[in-house]
Amino acid sequence: MAFLFILPTWPIDVWTSAMRKVAPGLDVRAWPDAMGRLEDIEYCAAWLPPPGVVKSLPNLKVIMSLGAGVDAILKDPTLPDNIPIVRVNDPDLTGRMTEYIVLHVLMHHRQQRRLDENQKRRVWDSFPTHAAKHLSVGIMGMGVMGADSAERLRDLGFRVAGWSRSRKTIPGVESFAGESEFDAFLARTDVLVSLLPATADTDGIINRETIRKLSRKGPFGAPIVINAGRGRQQVAEDILAALDAGELHAATLDVFTTEPLPEDSPLWTHPKVTVTPHCAADSDPETICAYVAGNIAKHQRGEALDNLVDRARGY
Ligand code: NAP
Ligand code: GLV
Repeated sequence: MAFLFILPTWPIDVWTSAMRKVAPGLDVRAWPDAMGRLEDIEYCAAWLPPPGVVKSLPNLKVIMSLGAGVDAILKDPTLPDNIPIVRVNDPDLTGRMTEYIVLHVLMHHRQQRRLDENQKRRVWDSFPTHAAKHLSVGIMGMGVMGADSAERLRDLGFRVAGWSRSRKTIPGVESFAGESEFDAFLARTDVLVSLLPATADTDGIINRETIRKLSRKGPFGAPIVINAGRGRQQVAEDILAALDAGELHAATLDVFTTEPLPEDSPLWTHPKVTVTPHCAADSDPETICAYVAGNIAKHQRGEALDNLVDRARGY
């Protein structure tokens, strides 16, 4: 039995070393140069796998995503439909995302970019601030990541709500569910956070119409958008137009339709946009390899796999 990494954009040596360290008995192979006999490969772990590679493995039993999102794996038109896909659900990854969401909600709430600008110009402008309880944060996607961020933001005193397909019960966090409750969720939200997976249903969800439905009663008079889900969820032109029209106060974007974000994208230089390079929650090699190795061991013992993807839902 062999295990294959398919990692066109990540440092393959770091990942193979980490896997050999946490699972010394495992025959670890690497696409494209160290695949060996394809018939041996029963498990693979991938991030942005090129189309056709998974299909070329005749005895594959399980596909593992090295991230929480599986959109890049599912978009391969040649993907065999009978092989289970599992994704990462690990406290390390979740904790990193929560840090990012809390950081950026606080950055906007405490107007840190304005303070940075003032410092650059040596301006002592101690403008009035407001309490967390005056800001309503709305999180789209209340799965592993969304729920954890919601709890931490709630603990800081923000008014937090979540929107998901099914209703959630989290103390102190209001739950909105399904399309029929989307507009009500938007109407109470000053800071819109996306932690949705990329699916046909969530494509382009952060558009001008959505932005116009957000609350304008918050301390900044216009809403804020934070997208750490997937770039496909945002219509960049709509975000830019809404910012310039004063319909949106600011945006933090970690994910983009094209990554790396092209150098000529106006998002890079817009004064109200904070761009980060898809780093909200990085997969740590040793932690994630231990998680993958654990799932392989379970499968080999005939136990159920953790965090199976529902292909029909797309996440
Ligand atoms: P998850 O546990 O699968 O949660 C997904 C959530 O989205 C669920 O609450 C689900 O609702 C909700 N949802 C899905 N489709 C929906 C729709 N059409 N309408 C309303 N709600 C919908 O996923 P996760 O582990 O929290 O990760 C979420 C996403 O974060 C990933 O898919 C990935 O795209 C992104 N991510 C980004 C980074 C980064 O570095 N930027 C890192 C990790 C993950 P139900 O609960 O009702 O099913
Ligand atoms: C990163 O984007 C992930 O899906 O884990």
